[in-house]
Amino acid sequence: MALERTLSIVKPDAVAKNVVGEIYSRFEKAGLKIAAAKMKHLSRKEAEGFYAVHRERPFFNALVEFMCSGPVMIQVLEGDNAIAKNRELMGATNPKDAAPGTIRADFADSIDANAVHGSDAAETAAVEIAYFFPSTEVYAR
Ligand code: PPS
Repeated sequence: MALERTLSIVKPDAVAKNVVGEIYSRFEKAGLKIAAAKMKHLSRKEAEGFYAVHRERPFFNALVEFMCSGPVMIQVLEGDNAIAKNRELMGATNPKDAAPGTIRADFADSIDANAVHGSDAAETAAVEIAYFFPSTEVYAR
């Protein structure tokens, strides 16, 4: 098993529902440790930069607007196979397709407001972590 880090975001819809603690509890029960965390209200520029890879997608503007609509919780999760483990906990992008018991099945309302983000690969995890956290703010656990 590989010790990995991944970037996780509790999106504005889930923060507004007051389920940050419930979501953190799922990470911890699955053996993932919080190696960094902060609450932040993203500017339009920050959200556009974070999702730059999706710039040409039809939902890009709506996604950026949504991510700026309220504060988010941003965290680095660390653990064995953290990237895949977090994506498993999250469930499918569209909550209608998310397996029962996953975060999106339990807390997301739609594909546009789907509660959480998680890096999808080691390369993107490294870029996404560095986007929000200087290395001095990420703690080995
Ligand atoms: S896809 O469809 O597989 O390419 O989607 P994915 O690469 O997993 O993620 C796209 C991100 O955009 C968010 N989003 C949407 N995706 C698809 N369709 C619609 N309408 C849509 N609206 C928003 C989706 O949640 C992904 O964001 P993150 O933050 O990575 O979960």
